[in-house]
Amino acid sequence: MPAHWGLTVTPSGHLACDSVSLASLRETWGSPLHVVLARRLRENASEFLAVNGVGRTRAEVYYSYKSNPVPGVLQLLHGLGVGAEVISEYELWLALKLGVPANRIVFNGPAKSTAAIHDAVARDLLLLNVNHREEIDVVAAAARALGKRPRIGIRVAASAGWSGQFGLSIGQGEAFTAIKQVHESGVLQLTAIHCHVGGMLRSAQQVLGYVGEVLALADRVRSDLGVELAILDFGGSLATPTVAGISEFDRRLSIAFQAPIPAPVPDATISIREYVRCVVEKVETHYAATAKQCPRIFFEPGRAMTGNAQVLITSVLSLNASDPKPGWAILDAGINLAESARSEFHHILPASRMHAERALRYRLAGPICSPGDVLSWSALLPELAIGDALAIMDAGAYFVPFATSFSFPRPAIVMVDGSDVHLLRHAETFEHIIALDRVEQPPANEKRQALQ
Ligand SMILES: Cc1ncc(COP(=O)(O)O)c(C=O)c1O
Repeated sequence: MPAHWGLTVTPSGHLACDSVSLASLRETWGSPLHVVLARRLRENASEFLAVNGVGRTRAEVYYSYKSNPVPGVLQLLHGLGVGAEVISEYELWLALKLGVPANRIVFNGPAKSTAAIHDAVARDLLLLNVNHREEIDVVAAAARALGKRPRIGIRVAASAGWSGQFGLSIGQGEAFTAIKQVHESGVLQLTAIHCHVGGMLRSAQQVLGYVGEVLALADRVRSDLGVELAILDFGGSLATPTVAGISEFDRRLSIAFQAPIPAPVPDATISIREYVRCVVEKVETHYAATAKQCPRIFFEPGRAMTGNAQVLITSVLSLNASDPKPGWAILDAGINLAESARSEFHHILPASRMHAERALRYRLAGPICSPGDVLSWSALLPELAIGDALAIMDAGAYFVPFATSFSFPRPAIVMVDGSDVHLLRHAETFEHIIALDRVEQPPANEKRQALQ
């Protein structure tokens, strides 16, 4: 099982990355603790970048900053040839601060401010994907004011997947209308179709469905407008093989009867390489049939790139002995740090007792004073003792950005790279939590006594 994450187990039963015990890292860096697995991160990136289509099309990869905006993680990915996908002024600022050139940045999202659009146009970003029709006029106004011709993509919604506030429907014709509007603006370069379907894709069949819809729309753009799109951007959404959504039915069974939540079968999810290959081959084949040059193919992975490259180590703070055994174990990390665990199954492993028989079903609660702070109602573990370390797996996407300082400061983030362990982010201190507050000086001692 640890091999799914590129981890091993030491003879003494410790979950280890390149022979570094994850539980032992608490001695230096404290608990809870995020541990980034550099080797897994490099492997994931090279899987995304490795595919060469028959027509020698190589996919381009723009990491979705929102899913794990930790500078040390982002810089490692950028060093491997991965660009940046950003959705806010802050993320754009961060990408530029980390040295990502403007022509390696894709700007998305439904909430671009006018200032952010001006900034993006002024900097000649690689691609600005318009989310809804109203944005087109704002981008065009910025382009005129700045004397630029920005490269524009249109975010589309396919027949399955996210729609609502995200993009324009292909089926209802909104996407084509917006594409035409961009083309006729006179100041915008119609460059791309952008389709991020959302959710967790697991099969080639799911992927090929929306790729086919995008290709049909690109054909219509050619035939009706005479424009050959330079880029097809297929967004993210490939699942992490060891993570799955929890159905309401399973959640209720688990709460009522401690029934185990079914773990996903890792092989049931296509690999990163298969996913990239199936998209690249489909696009290449389609363009070969029309004798047109294959466009550039973009991916914007979040969870598939970093999800399984990070582990959240947590410690058992107390055990509730009043309940029938095994009862509750209270941990120093809960939904304050692992919000996704409310709706997703994540493996939770006994990080320092991997050889022990896992025969007991625990309810695992976090430290927050809320009945909702439950990481698992039915975690299969060995008999726990106070201080034991547990590893919450696949913590590398949507854990860090959703984390809060609810009653407890957020933890440090370290990276294990071979035998080297280095700090990526300091643990938050109490002072950090109130750093932006105006704190009045408390009254001097005598006054305080008088008040009492
Ligand atoms: C536009 C866009 N691209 C990429 C991603 C990354 O998605 P995932 O983490 O599912 O790969 C997201 C996530 O919501 C997104 O909105």
